[in-house]
Amino acid sequence: MKAIVLLGAPGAGKGTTAEAVKGRTAFLHVSTGDMLRRAVKNGTDLGRRAESYMKQGELVPDELMTQLIDERLVKEGPEALYVFDGYPRTVNQAEQLEQSLERHGGRLDRVFLLDAPRPVLIERLTGRRICRQCGRNYHVVNVPPAKDGVCDACGGELYQRSDDTEDTIVNRLEVYERQTHSLIARYEAQGLLVRVDAGQQADRMAADVMAELPE
Ligand code: AP5
Repeated sequence: MKAIVLLGAPGAGKGTTAEAVKGRTAFLHVSTGDMLRRAVKNGTDLGRRAESYMKQGELVPDELMTQLIDERLVKEGPEALYVFDGYPRTVNQAEQLEQSLERHGGRLDRVFLLDAPRPVLIERLTGRRICRQCGRNYHVVNVPPAKDGVCDACGGELYQRSDDTEDTIVNRLEVYERQTHSLIARYEAQGLLVRVDAGQQADRMAADVMAELPE
């Protein structure tokens, strides 16, 4: 079992980069945000407990997150390669992840810090639109669909995430500074951190990550 983490503020491009890595390697993309959104949509117990935190841009409590990740590691088995997107986000989650990986005979190999200026993050998130059917990402200015509100790939309806409103984005960025930013020093001290310029084009960002993947 091998694992890498994509660390970075909301809008840095964690999901975009994780999908690029997944498309070119055997790494599995584990997005806690996507897992939680699915749980909310399906009305599961976890979804009901997580929904109000997500709407406000606050973090879902650690104990729910640890359980979610543990279940995923058990499901995929000991040979799996993971790219974690959006996890860990607190010191407690980082400790839990290290312990979970160890229990499954694995380890954390690299942590990529995707770093972009705040105005870029806000612009990316306020303009983001997502296909309800296939999940493809658009941006109203940078990557608009050919027909307004309709996915080019599958014809599905495009929607805006409920936490992509300006007020909630500002809170998500504050929550990142308050609760997640300290992980940078932790991983730097462990010699795991690789810094990536997330202000550059998405394909260059993915290439920088691909160049540093563990053997
Ligand atoms: P989550 O879904 O993880 O959201 P996030 O961290 O706020 O990150 P985003 O998905 O908004 O951004 P991203 O960095 O993945 O960027 P993306 O590639 O999409 O979490 C949502 C919520 O769930 C949290 O607020 C919390 O409540 C809860 N949660 C999740 N994990 C948790 C945890 N571990 N603990 C507790 N709670 C948790 O890109 C953004 C946009 O920019 C896209 O439109 C994309 O096309 C575009 N873009 C990306 N890269 C580039 C580029 N290089 N150039 C131009 N455009 C780009």
